[in-house]
This record gives sequence, C-alpha cells and structure tokens, in this order.
Amino acid sequence: MSGFLLRGGTIINSDGRVEADMLLREGRVVKIGKNLSSQPDDEIIDCKGKWLLPGAIDPHTHMGIPIKNGWSADDFASGSRSALHGGVTTILDFTVQEAGQSLTDSVNHRLELAKPSVVDYGLHCNITRFSPEMLEEIPQLIERGITSFKVFTAYEEAGMRLRYDEIRQVAEVVAKFGGLLMVHAEEGEVIGRAMSSMANLDSPDPRLHGASRPVEAEVQAIHRMAEIADQTECLVYVVHLSSGAGFEASKGHRNVLLETCPQYLLLDESVYGREDGRMYVASPPLRKHEDNDALWLAIASGAVHALGTDHCPFNLADKPLNRPFTDIPNGMGGVETLLPVMLAQFIERKLPVERLVELLSTHPAKIFGMYPRKGVLQQGADGDVLVVDPEVLSEVSLDKLESSIDWSAYTGFKAIFPEQVFQKGQLVLDQYSLQQVVPGEFIKSAGMTFSPVDEG
Ligand code: URP
Ligand code: ZN
Ligand code: ZN
Repeated sequence: MSGFLLRGGTIINSDGRVEADMLLREGRVVKIGKNLSSQPDDEIIDCKGKWLLPGAIDPHTHMGIPIKNGWSADDFASGSRSALHGGVTTILDFTVQEAGQSLTDSVNHRLELAKPSVVDYGLHCNITRFSPEMLEEIPQLIERGITSFKVFTAYEEAGMRLRYDEIRQVAEVVAKFGGLLMVHAEEGEVIGRAMSSMANLDSPDPRLHGASRPVEAEVQAIHRMAEIADQTECLVYVVHLSSGAGFEASKGHRNVLLETCPQYLLLDESVYGREDGRMYVASPPLRKHEDNDALWLAIASGAVHALGTDHCPFNLADKPLNRPFTDIPNGMGGVETLLPVMLAQFIERKLPVERLVELLSTHPAKIFGMYPRKGVLQQGADGDVLVVDPEVLSEVSLDKLESSIDWSAYTGFKAIFPEQVFQKGQLVLDQYSLQQVVPGEFIKSAGMTFSPVDEG
C-alpha cells in the first residue's frame, strides 16, 4: 500500500529532536531513520528545514453545547475541521448531563453527536446531577474507555454544581477504578457573595463579569479540591487555571494536575473595556497581566501539565449588546489557533518547542490514556503528523481561518500554522489548506500512563 516518505525533517518529540526520515503507511508511523528507502508508489515529501511535530491534542473542547440562552457555535463537524487547520488532530470533549439523565445515557448521546468529527476524539464524562446510584456507572464507563470525570464547583444557576461531600464520593470511586477527576474550580459561594454585593446586575458592562468571579473563587476551590485529592488519593486535573494565586494554591499537592489555556496566558481583563468586550466573557474570567506572567513562569518551569482551549465559540450576534452581563453566554473559541499561536509565542519567548509538544501532545495523550498511540512520533504511533515551516510567521485573521465564526480573540496574534497535516497517515492539509477529511474515530482511553512524580 502506498505511503508517504517525509524526507529530512527535524522530528520534535517532548524528549528531544532528531533529523531523520519518517515513513507513514497504513495509518501509522512505520519507520523513522536516516536515508529510508521508499517503494515506487510512495509519495516523497522534502521536509528539509521543516519541523515534524506530533498532532496536537486539545483536551478541552465544547462542541455544540447549551450555555445560558445560546449554543456554542461549533458542532463536531465544523469544530473538527477548524481544529485540523490548526494542527489539532485529536480533541477531548465533554458530555452534557441533563437533569434526570444517567451518565451512561449522556455518554451514548454525546458519542452519537461526535460521529461527524473529522479528527479523532475522546470523551470526558461530566457529572453535574449527582445521585449515589451514578457512582455504580463509573467503573462501567472506565471499562468503555471513558476514564475522566468532570465536576463543577460553580454554575449553581445552571444546576451543575456539586457539593464537596458529593465530589468526595465521586473521587473515591474514580480513584478506586484508576480514573481521573477533572474540576472546573471556581467556588460557587465566593461568586454568590460577590454577586449579592453588586448593585448593578442589570448592567451590560462585561467588566462586571470579572468582578463577579474573583480570583479568590479559584483559590478556594483549588484548596478544597487539593484536600480531596490528598485524602482520597484521587488524581485531580484542574481545567482552565486562570490565576497566579490559583497556581500557588495547587503547590505541594502531587495529585493535582494543571491545565491552562491560551486566553489566560495572552489576554487580560483590560479586554472587557473594549467595544467587543462581551465576546471575552468566559469562566473563569480573564485576569490581570501579572496572572499571565505567573502562568508563563509555571509553564516554563514545567508545573503546568497540559494546554487546552476550552473551545466554546460564539458569533457576535450570539452575545448581543445591551443585555445584562449575567445573560452573556460564557466561552470563547480557540481550537484552530491553539498550536499556531502558542508555537509563535514559544519561539518568541525562547522556550523549548519540546516543552510545547509535551503540553499539547505528550502529556494529554498520557493523562487521557492515548499514549503511545498518540502524543509521540515513533514507530507504531498513529500517523498524526504536522509539518511546520518555522520561518513562515503569519498573523491570525478571520478570512484565513477554516472556521466561519465571525469573531476570534486571537485576531492579529502572530501564528505559525502547519503547512501539512497528516491524519492517521493521510495527507489532509497541504500548503496550509484542507484538501480532504477522513472520518474521526472514538479513541478509548486505555488509562492514564502519566506519573506526576516522574514527570510533573
Ligand atoms: O466560559 C466557559 N469556560 N465556557 C465553557 C464551559 C466551561 O466552564 O468550561
Ligand atoms: Zn469550565
Ligand atoms: Zn470548559
């Protein structure tokens, strides 16, 4: 069967780089080495001067979910096409558990919705409506390849918040069966108090969104969750860490893993004063410039374990002007710009690209049970490969994105988009544009192979 011989590129994994050829066949990396020979029907691609990276894994997307009065504007079909254009070849999305719905039903439903995806996908199971019977579903779901369970310490108004005693029960079962607990860490009580002291809840001013969800909410929730992690020996993965103080609260807890997102590294609360300030409304809110700096330091030191986007995009009309800030649907997009913008940032900040590969591929693959099939370029791995020309720096602009959503927080940011993308050994993107798509596949989590002590 014909394949691709990628000749003479620099292959960058999280543990180093090597100049070599790579042969892709039957969906896999079949060989890496010097002067590999090809067969007559192999296509040979000259990769001299190019970087070959493992496909990025976005561990945090929300395709087509209901939020406040709206729906996030990407479904699995559109969101995954835009992911591919930015070099994301695998996403991990979340179930939506309706009131009265079992975890199993919520998983089955989400798996159906995910079928049109053109990137591979895994699933995290949200637990937003607790009942003790649900605990019995956890081992069965782990058996089915869903090993990560997410709880919320906020969103009381949406009926999604769990109490800490409920979370502890979930943690005990998840730990017993070798799963992972994820948490949206904003303490609902702190948010409630902040809101009740505000006189202007009817105001459309998006700056009030930040005021209503202070850093203290993140700090308190991380403290409580770290305590649960310590007591139950359950690994707790904090999604979308937004603040330096939140990072400090996580220190010293070896069972706590951290994810942050480009928006908490690159944007600060000043954007809420812009004309389009409402579009940046997300939870947790954007913080201060000092928080960006603290999170970059945490990234550079290896204390952050993964980068995700919390991809939950909206069109301008989805967040209408002049409605109370409390009605603005929460969330921003970012799956298409994740790797391109972060790669440009890493180069500008002189951070090793190996660290970026660790955050965008190797760690998510290990944490969510996809390694070594994903997250590394080595013999036997899936042929999810990005060919990047590090010299081709561009600027994010809406007209060049695959996404048809009419707003991006990253417009104007420097970016290095992949020149070619291989999805399971097939060339799906060439010369920066999508050529074809192949069906995405549900990737069962085979269980975590990540050791926070060795790798944290
Ligand atoms: O504002 C956000 N982050 N929306 C998506 C849902 C969540 O909390 O992750
Ligand atoms: Zn969240
Ligand atoms: Zn989220």
